Order: sequence, then C-alpha cells, then structure tokens
Amino acid sequence: MLRHLRNVPRLTRSSQCLHRLASTTPSYLIDQPEYSFLKDLGLERENPGVYSGQWQGRGSTIVSYDPGTGQPIAAVRQANVQELEQTIGLGVEAYKQWRQVPAPVRGEIVRQIGDELRKYKEPLGKLVSLEVGKIHSEGQGEVQEFIDICDYAVGLSRIYAGQVINSERADHTILEAWRPLGLVGVISAYNFPNAVFGWNAAIALTTGNSVLWKGAPSTPLVSVATTKIVSEVLRRNHLPPVITMCQGGTDVGQSLVADKRVNLVSFTGSCNTGRQVGVAVQERFGKSILELGGNNALLIDESANLKMALDAALFGCIGTSGQRCTTTRRIIVHEKLYDQFVDALVVKYKQLVSRIGHQLELNTLVGPVHAQQNVENFKTAIQDAIKEGGSLAFGGKVLSRPGFYVEPTIVTGLAHNSPVVHRETFAPIVYILKAKSLDEAISWNNEVEQGLSSAIFTERIDQAFKWIGSQGSDCGIVNINTTTNGAEIGGAFGGEKATGGGRESGSDAWKQYCKRATITVNHSGQLACAQGVVFNVE
Ligand code: UN1
Repeated sequence: MLRHLRNVPRLTRSSQCLHRLASTTPSYLIDQPEYSFLKDLGLERENPGVYSGQWQGRGSTIVSYDPGTGQPIAAVRQANVQELEQTIGLGVEAYKQWRQVPAPVRGEIVRQIGDELRKYKEPLGKLVSLEVGKIHSEGQGEVQEFIDICDYAVGLSRIYAGQVINSERADHTILEAWRPLGLVGVISAYNFPNAVFGWNAAIALTTGNSVLWKGAPSTPLVSVATTKIVSEVLRRNHLPPVITMCQGGTDVGQSLVADKRVNLVSFTGSCNTGRQVGVAVQERFGKSILELGGNNALLIDESANLKMALDAALFGCIGTSGQRCTTTRRIIVHEKLYDQFVDALVVKYKQLVSRIGHQLELNTLVGPVHAQQNVENFKTAIQDAIKEGGSLAFGGKVLSRPGFYVEPTIVTGLAHNSPVVHRETFAPIVYILKAKSLDEAISWNNEVEQGLSSAIFTERIDQAFKWIGSQGSDCGIVNINTTTNGAEIGGAFGGEKATGGGRESGSDAWKQYCKRATITVNHSGQLACAQGVVFNVE
C-alpha cells in the first residue's frame, strides 16, 4: 500500500521571487541567534504553508508576529483554494489505503508521532509560546497534551471495539462495529494551535481516518513546524499523506467546510463562526464536532477552602492571559464570603504585577494577549462593564509598551445578567458576583448561552452532589475543588448549548470519528423477519 513521498520543500518561481523580496525586508526574529530554536524546527524566513505529501503554497504570504514585542517572526505562503481542493483529493486517496491498515499498526504510527514530538517538545513548546503569547510552561504543557493523547491513542488502537447484541430471532447475532468516516477536517484556533490538532489527529488517525488541518491564520508557524514533525514519521514509514495541512484564510476555511469529501469537520473557535460552520456542514449532511466559546463560572461556597479557591481563581482567570475557552470568566461567591474573597483575590492580583512580561522570560506568569483585536475587545468590555454599573476592583488598563499587554482585571458590582457578563471576551477579565445561595449560584451558572466548563469550591458533600447532579451545572465540564481550565486528555472535552455539543480527546469521544455499523447475521439457514412478521409465499 505504501509509496515513498518526497518531503523536501519546493520553491515555486513566484515564491523564489517572494523569498528574494523578503530578504530586503526588516529582520525577522528567525534571523536572530536567540531564536535559533525556530531553525531547529526546520523553519525558514519564508515557509511553504501547504503539506499534501510535498510542501508548497501558492496563496498569499502571511507574516507571523510575536505578540510580546510586535516583531515579525517569519512568513508563511498560504494555500489557495485550488491547492486546498487538490489536497482534499490526496487526503481521500490516502484514507483509502490507511483504512486497510490494522488499527494497532495505525496506533504504532501514532506512537511514533508522540515520540517524535517528545524530541521536539522544547523548541516546539517555545514556538507555541512565542506565536500565541502564552508563557513558557504553558507552551510546553500544550505540546505535552499532544504527546499524552498519542499515548492514549496507542492504547485505544488495541481496545476500541463494538459489541455483540442478543437477537430476538433464533440463530441470529447482531454485531455493532465502528468504521472510519474518511477524511476529517480540523480547523483549530490560535489559542491552542498545537494540542487541538493533536487531540483530533491522534484519535482520527487511530480510528482509520485521514486528516486535513487548517490552523489559525495568525499561528501558521506552529502549523508548519508541527506538520514537519508529523510528516517525518509518515515519510519514514513510506505512508501516503494521511495528515495534510493547508494554512489559509476565510476562503480556504469556507471551501473546506463546504466540501462533501470532508466527512467530518472538527471546528474550534467562536460561537458565531461555529454556528455558520455547523449549518454549512449540516447542509451537505456532513458531520461536525463543534468546540466553541465558554462563559465559565467558578462557584465559591461558604464552606470553601479559601486558599485553594483563590489559587484556582488566579490560574483560571489569568492563565493564558484569559484566552482559553475554559478560562474562568465569572466567579459567583456566597454573600458571607464575598468581601473576604474579593479582598484576598485583589492581594493576589497585586503580587502578579511584577510577573507581567514577555512570554518567553521564565519569570513571567502573565504574557501578552494574542493580538491588537484582543486589546480592542478588552477595552470595549471594560467600557461596557463601567457603563453597566460595574467597578474595577483591580486593573482595567492597557499597558503602554511594545506588544499587546493588558492588566489582569477584576470587575465587581455588576448584575449577574448584565450583557457584558454574558459575553465571552477573550482577555483576562473576571466578573465577581455575589449570590445568596447555592441554588441561586447554580441558576446564574446555567443562565448563559454557553455551556463549556464550570467548577465549585465546597467542603459539603450535599452541595458537591447537587452540583454534579441533574439540577446542577449544565456544562460539559463540571468540576469540584479545582479549576475550570486545564482539563486532562483522558476525559471527553467539550460543552453543551452554544459551546456546540462536540466532544474531543478521551473517554469515548473516539466514536465521533467513526460511523456505526449495525450488522445482523442470520446463521439459521432460514429467513425469518423480526417482530414476528410473516411474509412469504409457498
Ligand atoms: C481551548 O481553550 O480551546 O482545558 C482548549 C483546557 C485545555 C484545553 C483548552 N486542556 O484548558
């Protein structure tokens, strides 16, 4: 089945011209010695942004910037729509071969991908930090999530299974089997440019699908570097391009979503775009996994362990500069603990001021937000919060320094149903609300459109079980005494309502990458209809 593929980037005539032009532009970070880790990942000043067994890219060239300084890192030549269409065709052909490979052998390939990622974890994690703006340990942690899901998928490849069901007819057996869907399209967001692809790709590959990835336009270097690592494993094993990649803008994204040959589209992004993606995929009866916005609440009961709750609030609200879909956006505190909690959280926020800095400095805990648009959204949210009656208990300002830095911000005094509280702003802003009872806190937790993550801090077992029961949180993630963010790969990841309903990663999320075949086998030697129906002529 296997054919050898060239893995050497090829420069087209026009891209050679662009390459020459680029050398007259101001210096890219990749040219500087302290960024040599980018070269260790095989990146160049200008990189082909399409992988379909070979490297190319005939669409527009996009420059990637460091949000921590605003300086250009390197450039990527994106796909045009024609290249996307060709890549889809190649991905479908690769699937036809890949589905014949036994699942544990597919798992072995995924194991090799995990091992290859281990080799590059340090520079790849640094690139994730540099391009997104997340701090060093979070960049490393993101690559670790990809490695973890590879390990998970290796085991899965030997144990994922259907079942045998009792038939009502004598000498009949009903089997249930899980088959691959075909080509899986993965559209990932800038905030997790590596791990989200990883969760999808590892499970999709293991279950026999091929994968086409479009990463966010503002994190193209992570897409290229990650695909280089993965494609090396494919090359070494003489595999067809079961992983392909097309970096591109809206035109490429829309064509991918509309294409019938893409059997499943796994989309991570905003609720608004996700709604359009969901409708467009449904229109052609494709399948989708939607992992959209969150408006995640942390509930603090009177009985809470305050120290732990404060630490959870700190990482939940400020980790990744408030740009995880699982970030804590609302803290709902019991009225008896409210003043004490707010005061103590403000003290913690003050301690963080000296830890705001460039994402690659090891002392930094609060890096920049990803782009100017996040800064604008931050400013709008603060203005709206004040207009709607909120007060700033901490922060609220944009920092005047190169790059995109805002102050971690605490807003108090807003009504639980203020429009700004119900809106997800991808920035480190938290709204603290005062509730009279657990029932009130749960109703506020559930009243927003989104339903991704939620957590309660309580020492009371009755409250804990109410929270996780049918009258409790309506989210996909319902934690007790830990953060709303930072889920592990072993559980299914995703949420309800406007979060889209999709599940990725662990548990039985693999079923979403499969079609279910129900197989009735008649081994009686005679035809018999179910439900006692008699239908024959002698
Ligand atoms: C996302 O923000 O899109 O649970 C994903 C978490 C991470 C994944 C976040 N494991 O915060």
